[in-house]
Amino acid sequence: MKMSDIIKLNDKTSGSEKKKFPYAMPQVPRKEDRPKAEAYDGLQVKKVEEPQAVVRDEKKDMEGLYQRHINEMRSIFDRAKLDFTIAPAKNSIQEITREMVDKLLLSDVDIIKFFMKSNKEDYIYSHSVNVAFLSVMLGVWLNYNKFDLNQLATAALLHDIGMAKVLKYALMPRRLRFLERREVARHPDYSKDFISQMPDMDSRVIEAAHNHHRRLGTSSKIIDEHSQIIGIVDTFEAMTHPRSYKRVLEPHSAIRKVIEDLKDMFDSHIIKALVDNIGVYPVGTWVRLDTEEIGLVIDVNSGFPLSPKVNILFNEKAEKLQEPRTVDLSKQKNIHIKNPLEEEVRLKIKEILSR
Ligand SMILES: [Fe+2]
Ligand SMILES: [Fe+2]
Repeated sequence: MKMSDIIKLNDKTSGSEKKKFPYAMPQVPRKEDRPKAEAYDGLQVKKVEEPQAVVRDEKKDMEGLYQRHINEMRSIFDRAKLDFTIAPAKNSIQEITREMVDKLLLSDVDIIKFFMKSNKEDYIYSHSVNVAFLSVMLGVWLNYNKFDLNQLATAALLHDIGMAKVLKYALMPRRLRFLERREVARHPDYSKDFISQMPDMDSRVIEAAHNHHRRLGTSSKIIDEHSQIIGIVDTFEAMTHPRSYKRVLEPHSAIRKVIEDLKDMFDSHIIKALVDNIGVYPVGTWVRLDTEEIGLVIDVNSGFPLSPKVNILFNEKAEKLQEPRTVDLSKQKNIHIKNPLEEEVRLKIKEILSR
């Protein structure tokens, strides 16, 4: 599969109606068409028009949930560090994942904004939650039912729990030496050992966590879709978050790298679902339009990975506009993104915005 197969450019054809992704893959539902939680398990959800205050509350709620789940992961890791032979009760993990899945299914808050958070110090815990959040969303975009989403969330949350056994190496603020790397590379086996201790844990969950570093073409084994989802999200997360020994990629560079470098390592419909919904220019990317104006991507249009909604804030000379405006590039036929914003201009406008 080539890059151009994933990002077919004819949604950019000037003068004709912009088309959806022409790639012959199952259609991923647009955010607004996505089934809500009640479609999965009969849960009654009152549909109301959402005023700003409700959206703000929901964002606060999601922030609270995100932070709480990081704290829960911290305590699970801390306990595993002390005694790796005592796994938490399956119920306690299920409580976290059930809450996570329910919230993500119902929420219109942009999950990618939470996904992009974290700091170097507690990255191992926030990484687990980030991977679980985005894996669940990828499952939603692939039309998973609630049972599968819960299984996926459990495996994603615990995929790196084996790191608790090798944490002194994993947290070293430098590149690891050969033997240290070899020890860290065993963490999926340790994750499997740990999760297997939890009574009645489904073997699909155990295997999904165990195989998260396996890639297509590197073994004769079929790699389960849950493992692939966790694997691709895990890689994307690591590219876009700070680690003490490596540079962080801007989200659009990470997506490009996923498409270019990982295209033969994962099933194409999984890559497509990720790119289709995160966009080639993910939320938070500064871009220059072909009008030379500068804007910030504020939302992606599912099915139009090159045509997000952009808040135009600066003119072509990087002067702040008195009246910013928002354009939906999936509807505006004559405006396109020229390129992600050049680094020096980005720094300049960030400085203007911070004044
Ligand atoms: Fe891992
Ligand atoms: Fe990981």
